[in-house]
Amino acid sequence: MSRGTLIDLLYLISATTFILALKGLGSPKRARLGNGVAAVGMLIAIVATFFKQVDGHNLYHVWLILVAMAVGVVIAVPTARYVRMTAMPQLVAIFNGVGGGAASLVSITEFVHIHSTHPATYVTLEVLLGVLIGTVSFSGSAIAYAKLQELMTGRPVTYPGQQVINGILGAVGLVLIVIILVSGQTALLWVLLALSFVLGIAFVLPIGGADVPVLISLLNSFTGLAVAASGFTLGSNLLIVAGTLVGASGILLTRLMSKAMGRSLSNVLFSAFGSVITASGGAGADARPVRSGAPEDAGVLLSFASRVAIIPGYGLAVAQAQHVLRELAEELEAKGIEVFYAIHPVAGRMPGHMNVLLAEANVPYEQLKELDEANSELQTADVALVVGANDTVNPAAKDDRSSPIYGMPIINADLAENVLFLKRSMRPGFAGIENELLYNPKTTLIFGDAKDTLTKIVAAVKAS
Ligand code: TAP
Repeated sequence: MSRGTLIDLLYLISATTFILALKGLGSPKRARLGNGVAAVGMLIAIVATFFKQVDGHNLYHVWLILVAMAVGVVIAVPTARYVRMTAMPQLVAIFNGVGGGAASLVSITEFVHIHSTHPATYVTLEVLLGVLIGTVSFSGSAIAYAKLQELMTGRPVTYPGQQVINGILGAVGLVLIVIILVSGQTALLWVLLALSFVLGIAFVLPIGGADVPVLISLLNSFTGLAVAASGFTLGSNLLIVAGTLVGASGILLTRLMSKAMGRSLSNVLFSAFGSVITASGGAGADARPVRSGAPEDAGVLLSFASRVAIIPGYGLAVAQAQHVLRELAEELEAKGIEVFYAIHPVAGRMPGHMNVLLAEANVPYEQLKELDEANSELQTADVALVVGANDTVNPAAKDDRSSPIYGMPIINADLAENVLFLKRSMRPGFAGIENELLYNPKTTLIFGDAKDTLTKIVAAVKAS
């Protein structure tokens, strides 16, 4: 077998592992294995590439590549290892952005390299699309990162005629590509690069912080397409397959997230959701009375229940209370009380956020119930224990046509006989809107940091 055939075979194995990895990532049980399979596939691809020959030549600048890889490893490993779970969307944004930027740089280098050889029009088109999409993904991801990291306002930044201006910028980009194809002027490549950079920023500015995770998934898909375009340019089947997989899975995830929020993708991208906080949804909330209680009261109520539904949300991740929550569930089970976790698909700030968090605390997968199954069982629950969730249990999504989250499927915590709500204040959730469930006569609010409150509840359950 020739060296070229062997390398192609290794690339095929590698591409297959990426597909198997995606399958694995589809279930919390196999997600870790899926990730491992993808990592092995990537290692095979990287090692094989070092032995690849192009036009009879070995890889150039091997030492430079190794140094760049070492720098990447030194930055990425500790960053990924020590990132807080709540900061994961930012990490994905920045990793995605550099991926898009890299694809764009490859395209620019190839343009400069092949330009003098008068390549076929379609080759130049791939290169130019790689520059446009990769750069939009790079600058867009940088703004997404800045919003999530609170380096700038998380609210939508809007101005009159914004969408029209963005549309014009996009159209000018496409016209530039046609002009470069026809005239072959290299100077215009730099204009396209600058315009793509501005377009990425302009596209992301009007998107509010709550919608940024959906946007990141879309930009991820863009990066995949830019990488696939680089694959065509470089004649690499592996890059084409890997880029297309990222492009397709990114767009599917984007659609799933939009659907789970009960909104269309165009609404997420163009409605500047989150720019207006409803009158009663601000930090002060309204003056209606609520029933609040002490953790000890919650402990007693839970101890006398026979079925408890735990509804986790973003606040659980903020408080890092997943371990003490599992401890509470175990204490209740030791008393013969049945416990299950109701998982909303967009609870938290990224897909699978709650699954990952609870898996970290060794909560058995069998106890996690997805939205429909959880809702069908909530009316048999004596207590719904809402831990740091808000929008995902807000009945306005069902009852209030004027609510911005109207149509979003929710976990019907209000079907349980009692609702215990663990949060620190009357502040709203990410969508910035008031939650009627807080005022429901069934509801008792236990104010405080979720970890502290749960620790006290565990003590109360043990004592009762
Ligand atoms: P949210 O509606 O954001 O509510 C989180 C709650 O946690 C808040 O009410 C907050 O109230 C409380 N909290 C924060 N820190 C806490 C702490 N240390 N201890 C106790 N409570 C704490 O969360 P959710 O129900 O999980 O909903 C997720 C939101 O993110 C939805 O609007 C969803 O559309 C959006 N979103 C999610 C995704 C994905 S993929 N997950 C993607 C895009 C958008 P206090 O401040 O009063 O404590």
